[in-house]
Amino acid sequence: MTDVKTAVAPASDRFDRPLKDLRVSVTDRCNFRCVYCMPKTVFNKDYKFLPKSELLTFEEIERMVQASAELGVTKIRLTGGEPLVRRDLEQLISKIRNVAGITDVSMTTNASLLTRDRARSLRDAGLQRLNVSLDAMDDETFMRVNDVDVTVQTVLDGIQHAADAKFDSVKVNMVVKKGLNDHSILPMARFFHGTGQILRFIEFMDVGNSNAWDLSHVTTSQEIADLINAEMPIAPAKANYRGEVAKRWEYLDGGGEIGIISSVSDPFCGDCSRARLSATGSIYTCLFASSGHDMRSVLRSGDVDAVRDALSKLWSVRGDRYSETRTQVSVIRPKVEMSFIGG
Ligand code: GTP
Ligand code: 5AD
Ligand code: SF4
Ligand code: SF4
Repeated sequence: MTDVKTAVAPASDRFDRPLKDLRVSVTDRCNFRCVYCMPKTVFNKDYKFLPKSELLTFEEIERMVQASAELGVTKIRLTGGEPLVRRDLEQLISKIRNVAGITDVSMTTNASLLTRDRARSLRDAGLQRLNVSLDAMDDETFMRVNDVDVTVQTVLDGIQHAADAKFDSVKVNMVVKKGLNDHSILPMARFFHGTGQILRFIEFMDVGNSNAWDLSHVTTSQEIADLINAEMPIAPAKANYRGEVAKRWEYLDGGGEIGIISSVSDPFCGDCSRARLSATGSIYTCLFASSGHDMRSVLRSGDVDAVRDALSKLWSVRGDRYSETRTQVSVIRPKVEMSFIGG
């Protein structure tokens, strides 16, 4: 393990929010076409995905992780698109795990490619936690969401492989879109109750420009909590850490916990300590940003100090708080796609 440089001051933005998390997109591709994320009308055979030459190499990503760790980042999350479509991810994971100061390495995946062997090799490489997306318990609804005929059982198998590989935690993310899969809230809650896998419900968000978002499609956190509470009583639980995105609720019967992510009805920008790195090497300081800050040339130069200084500079002027202002923003502007920057 390399020494962490202690002389460098932690980064802090215009609202005194530290930089603690770096979410790394390793590819813009995905084998799903979720209707709320990569609708086929846009992401079809004519869509130009990034050529391999434009993707950061693992060494370049490692440099960004080193630079961000020097500024206070402790958590790294690998995202996509679907991160498991990128080859040899285990090599990247071991590199990241060896960076001084990084204490938590996790991944968000649709788990359709998570075979037993793959789960074990990711775990062996040092991946600590997995968050798996699953939006329904019945094939008809789930296939309507993923739009590529992947069955629920395929993802449940992936989740089981993750559980068997003994990751520190396995969480399940369900995006709730009213009229599409809100009838799956209770079946999902019933299924994961008592399993040790933490189910989190995510309010459908207006990310990107392709998902035809409308407020009427949002089932609010309150509605979700009320629905579950009526059948399986829950009580609010304390956050695990400052800035935790999901609000935690515990089942009163000891069946574990759920989380609810309320980016729309109860935004959490005040504690947002996340930066996002695109697969092409741009840093986005908000999930709803129109553009990123290009870091590829400095990453390719190999000078970690220069990467750190550039990141520190752009973080210090950061003033993003999109989710707290979305109802006041009257001008429609382009936003980065979720599949390009990860969740
Ligand atoms: P852990 O608490 O470390 O497990 O991670 P997480 O909950 O931040 O990670 P995950 O990728 O599972 O995030 C779940 C969902 O929360 C994402 O898919 C997004 O929909 C939403 N989310 C995460 N971070 C942000 C954020 O900074 N802003 C907004 N608006 N939504 C976010
Ligand atoms: N609103 C909320 N969450 C979304 N995700 C993708 N698109 C949206 C959206 N419009 C989530 C996925 C996955 C993660 C990568 O982002 O379900 O959990
Ligand atoms: Fe792929 Fe996840 Fe987007 Fe679905 S939500 S298309 S699985 S990146
Ligand atoms: Fe952070 Fe932007 Fe999400 Fe607010 S909307 S929590 S600033 S990423």
